[in-house]
Amino acid sequence: MGAAVEADDLAGNAAYADAVRRHFTSVTTENALKLSVVRPSPSTWNWGPADTIVDFAAANDLEVRGHTLAWVNESGSQNGLPTWMRNLSDPGEFRAAVFESVTEVVGRYRGRVDRWDVVNEVFEYPVGLPAPSVFDRLGPDYVAELFTAAHAADPDASLWLNEVFTELFPAKGDSLVALVATLRSRGVPIHGVGLQTHLTLTPAAPNPGSVSGLVTRLRNLGVDVAITELDVPLGPLRSEQAQVDIYRQVATECLAAGCSEITVWGVSDADTTLDSVGQRQNNPLLSTFFSLPSTPLLLDVALQPKAAYAAVVEAIQQTPNPTT
Ligand code: XIL
Repeated sequence: MGAAVEADDLAGNAAYADAVRRHFTSVTTENALKLSVVRPSPSTWNWGPADTIVDFAAANDLEVRGHTLAWVNESGSQNGLPTWMRNLSDPGEFRAAVFESVTEVVGRYRGRVDRWDVVNEVFEYPVGLPAPSVFDRLGPDYVAELFTAAHAADPDASLWLNEVFTELFPAKGDSLVALVATLRSRGVPIHGVGLQTHLTLTPAAPNPGSVSGLVTRLRNLGVDVAITELDVPLGPLRSEQAQVDIYRQVATECLAAGCSEITVWGVSDADTTLDSVGQRQNNPLLSTFFSLPSTPLLLDVALQPKAAYAAVVEAIQQTPNPTT
């Protein structure tokens, strides 16, 4: 059971650090391992934030999901690449910068980051076509190449593809399954698929079976599957009880179909990115359906577990044969 965390909060807020220790078993680097943070200029490596998170996890026996080496679909300019790298229009220079960074970052945390979201958000929605992206400069096979490079840098790390809104758009789920099937059949080192599960585009609950169906299809391809960025905002069309029910539904479906992890996108309602101006600009439906503050997470602003937290824990406890 994981949460996305930020280094500043872990280092500067003892109550936050304590809540992470107490209520979660895994942490995801919310921003600290995006190349925009790690490599702000060609010659500057900024390891401080990621080191803080990885060291905290080691000291407290938490697992680490390293997020994310290549965020493909560009929502606004928030794809995690530093401007200087985005601006390398020469394909050879762009390629060198990306692969050098992947090798350096994964290699530095070899043995300390358990799983990597190597590639994030490959498809557009709703129909699931490949998203046009600066990563197209790497040529048509860049997804496989990125996995291969990450595997070379840490052969023991579990390597994941992470995707968004698959519970809402079946065609996107189909594209994801097809891509993973191809990568697996080619022997590309991909070991897991993350379903972000930001439930922010509609106040309705996910269709029953939309999570478990996809988890099952992906597991049948021989990969692990996890919910990696869950948040369930509130608003006039979604009540607190609906939030609890949706958390329970998603967790139960995911676990019943054999998923290995449920991670939420932030520690408490005080640190959700959904209330930020940037997210609201990128996703206008957020402001249409969900109020401010959207209180979408499992701990309240005082870092106390909400009813939704208890619902997820219950779902975990009631899973007959939890995977590890
Ligand atoms: C978000 C962070 O939460 C924000 O702080 C940052 O400004 C932008 O990125 N999908 C992802 C995450 O895979 O990396 C995004 O995180 C949220 C959507």
